[in-house]
Amino acid sequence: MTSTALAMRPTGIASIGLNLPPLAMSVEELAPLRGEDPKKYRLGLGCDSMSLCTPEYGVVELATEAARRALDRWSGDRDRIGMLAVGTETAFDMSRPLSAWVADKLGLSGAVRSYEVKHACYGGTLAVRQATEWRMSGAAGDQAALVIAADEALYEPGDPGEPTQGAGAVAMVIDEPEVATIDSVSYPWSEPQFDFWRPVGESYPRVDGPLSLDCYRRAAENCFKALVGTKNPEQVLSELAAICFHVPFPKMVKKAVVRVGEFFSWDAERIERFFLEKVNPTMVWNRLCGNAYTASLWISVANALKGLSAGQRIAAFSYGSGFGAELLTLEAGPRAAAGDWASDIEADLSQRRSIDGATYSRSRE
Ligand code: HMG
Repeated sequence: MTSTALAMRPTGIASIGLNLPPLAMSVEELAPLRGEDPKKYRLGLGCDSMSLCTPEYGVVELATEAARRALDRWSGDRDRIGMLAVGTETAFDMSRPLSAWVADKLGLSGAVRSYEVKHACYGGTLAVRQATEWRMSGAAGDQAALVIAADEALYEPGDPGEPTQGAGAVAMVIDEPEVATIDSVSYPWSEPQFDFWRPVGESYPRVDGPLSLDCYRRAAENCFKALVGTKNPEQVLSELAAICFHVPFPKMVKKAVVRVGEFFSWDAERIERFFLEKVNPTMVWNRLCGNAYTASLWISVANALKGLSAGQRIAAFSYGSGFGAELLTLEAGPRAAAGDWASDIEADLSQRRSIDGATYSRSRE
């Protein structure tokens, strides 16, 4: 097959695997520890519970297990994996990529381009785009990519971001688009800002909360503006079965939807209907696991794709502090309807252990 023929091949998600860590805590347990009304966390931020890692089960285990699940569901031969790209901001080495730890556990070595991608919560999406464009360019030949977005999001105890914490991983094989085609055209927007950052040597992020909210809203407005272009926004957006967002906490997504709706001159009722129909249902798993940084958007995308008929389309808005954002569009493939990756989340949720506030406090000492 010539490289031109390969370049013309449709590319996208061939399989998905997800993984959540073994512990969780409800936001109701955190509120009294911080002297807050639980309603602030549940209603004000829209959070429900946070996934928590253990010393034995951290970002490497999350990423590896999600990858194993994605590979098990993929019909291709493992020898065809020519790229392993891990998007994360939980890296624990300035040089050695997290992908090396994961490759070690998966037994992946040889003619594989293995690396880590960092851009706050946007890193997973960048890895997906690189893998997709690598295949679309023809440079991949017949090879496929294994892309992982994995993070443990922890704030300093007492930080206002603490109730939004979480953890999780999503792995995707980028190959034939059996689950979803990823459109070649996407809509990026970036601005250099200090909204959320973690200087070298510091354990926790520094956050300018109000600035981060503004940056996220501005990024969403500009990306959706580019998607709609000169067309009718009502028509462009109503054709989408679902619209997924990076979910730092669900109320952030609502704020962004309001901003986008106001930009298109929609009234409050129209915005609310749009949010409830197209956006809110995609965040069911996010509410239960909290912010999983790079994985958050892809947890929402995995949720939205399950059960779709081939040909139905969705959009995915990625945001990473610093800041970089990108709006992608995807089209469901024949394996989306079965949505077999939902069983990963169901199994992990049923097996995870809930801890109380006292246990959590001890774990953060
Ligand atoms: P805060 O300052 O403690 O909260 O932290 P607040 O005082 O702004 O209150 C939050 C909401 O709760 C407000 O609602 C209050 O009215 C409401 P709003 O006005 O926003 O609609 N509230 C109540 N509601 C019901 N009952 C009550 C009650 N009390 C208050 N009793 C903040 C909020 C988001 C700043 C904090 O959680 C934070 O710093 N989070 C981390 C930063 C963040 O997530 N930013 C989002 C955009 S940046 C991003 O997405 C990137 C990121 O994922 C990182 C990356 O890219 O790597 C974070």
